[in-house]
Amino acid sequence: MKWHRIELSSDISNPFIKKAKAGSKNICLVNFESKLYAVSAKCPHARADLSEGLCVRKLIVCPYHRHTYNLETGKGGEGQNDFIETYPVEVRDDGVYVGVNTLWDKLKSGFK
Ligand code: FES
Repeated sequence: MKWHRIELSSDISNPFIKKAKAGSKNICLVNFESKLYAVSAKCPHARADLSEGLCVRKLIVCPYHRHTYNLETGKGGEGQNDFIETYPVEVRDDGVYVGVNTLWDKLKSGFK
């Protein structure tokens, strides 16, 4: 797993949803109830930008058709049969980091 420092212009003590880059990945970084979550930036339904959505009860709500995804697991709401990627987040002394599996990590996990 490779960790990427995320450039944030806002204070992480306030709630937010914003698009960011973790290496080459477009992610959606969410500060909900004082906890940071990182998920895919695109909705799997019709590719809406999830950073333009909103959060309700640890769910991110897509701005287009209101599909919901769990911020911790990425699992879609009942009947959706889809999911979004989730990424680990660490707050370190020098900033916020998001972990992204490399292709090598994915290949290795295929052999376990
Ligand atoms: S694009 Fe997200 S629910 Fe349709």
